[in-house]
Amino acid sequence: MLPTWYIQYKKLIDNSVKKYLTEYFKDEKNPWLDIIKEASLYACKWWKRIRSILALEFYLIFSKKKLENLEKNDDIIKFCIALELLHAYSLVHDDLPAMDNDEYRRWDLTVWKKYWEANAILAGDLLNSLAFQVLWEINLNVLTYYFGQAVWLHWMLWGQVLDLYYEKNPDKLNLENLIEIHNKKTWALIEVSVLGWIFIAEKNHTFVKDEQSNNIKKYLDFWKKIGLAFQVKDDLLDVEWNLEETGKSVWDWEEKWFVYFLWIKETHKYLDNLINDCKEIIKNLNSEKLNFLVEYIGNRKK
Ligand code: IPE
Ligand code: IPE
Ligand code: MG
Ligand code: MG
Repeated sequence: MLPTWYIQYKKLIDNSVKKYLTEYFKDEKNPWLDIIKEASLYACKWWKRIRSILALEFYLIFSKKKLENLEKNDDIIKFCIALELLHAYSLVHDDLPAMDNDEYRRWDLTVWKKYWEANAILAGDLLNSLAFQVLWEINLNVLTYYFGQAVWLHWMLWGQVLDLYYEKNPDKLNLENLIEIHNKKTWALIEVSVLGWIFIAEKNHTFVKDEQSNNIKKYLDFWKKIGLAFQVKDDLLDVEWNLEETGKSVWDWEEKWFVYFLWIKETHKYLDNLINDCKEIIKNLNSEKLNFLVEYIGNRKK
């Protein structure tokens, strides 16, 4: 059961993403584009919103603001929309037949399966561009730069290239390469969530530079570990759970997963260590919400 505050944060993000897309599409009456509009909204429909909820909570802690006091067009909300649009695009393309060839996600058909492959590619392209359009509204070059860097050649994209390569050449994979893939494809976007709120809070002069925020570097370490933990858990879900529980296509066994190298028990231990390290780093923030989020990443069932 998710706590009420999580549902409240998620609702805010769900509504903001939906509103942004609906307004963007409002004046475009060309019926040729209907299917792309529908596919884009479908790709962004609900789910965990974990990246933006983490960004939002960090922002609220360090700016000492309350959720209720945020304006609807607050920069941090825009940033969360951008994160979700980009994340949605990455999954739409990740599921394509040429990539993971997956048919189910979030308890429903994947975008390509429902709207046809070419439309999924185009809807993904649109979501990717829109993410940068929302960032442009924040008007903070450094943020746009880091955001782009997380996705482009050296991070998410490279992670996906490596993922596809080792899928075809599993005998060449070892644990070290696997951690590199996970870090590149998953962690990079999670890391930009932490950088993002710092830039925004600084821009708006809401960054409270007290004792807790003195050493921001250690929170970057937090993100490195939480990003890896997130993907290790994802590998475990693939092995331990099924479509009904996770809502997405899962496979019985693959050489490119943590469990292949460490086996289930050791993978759990590896994950527990990452989760404990993360909890240790954020301990002095005394935030029950952050603590919950970290634990949730380690014990989520979907
Ligand atoms: C899935 O991300 C893709 C990975 C990077 C493992 P999420 O598990 O955050 O996906 P949704 O948005 O909640 O469906
Ligand atoms: C998705 O990774 C990562 C990106 C989209 C960059 P996976 O392919 O491992 O995640 P799922 O299992 O499809 O959600
Ligand atoms: Mg993939
Ligand atoms: Mg996939």
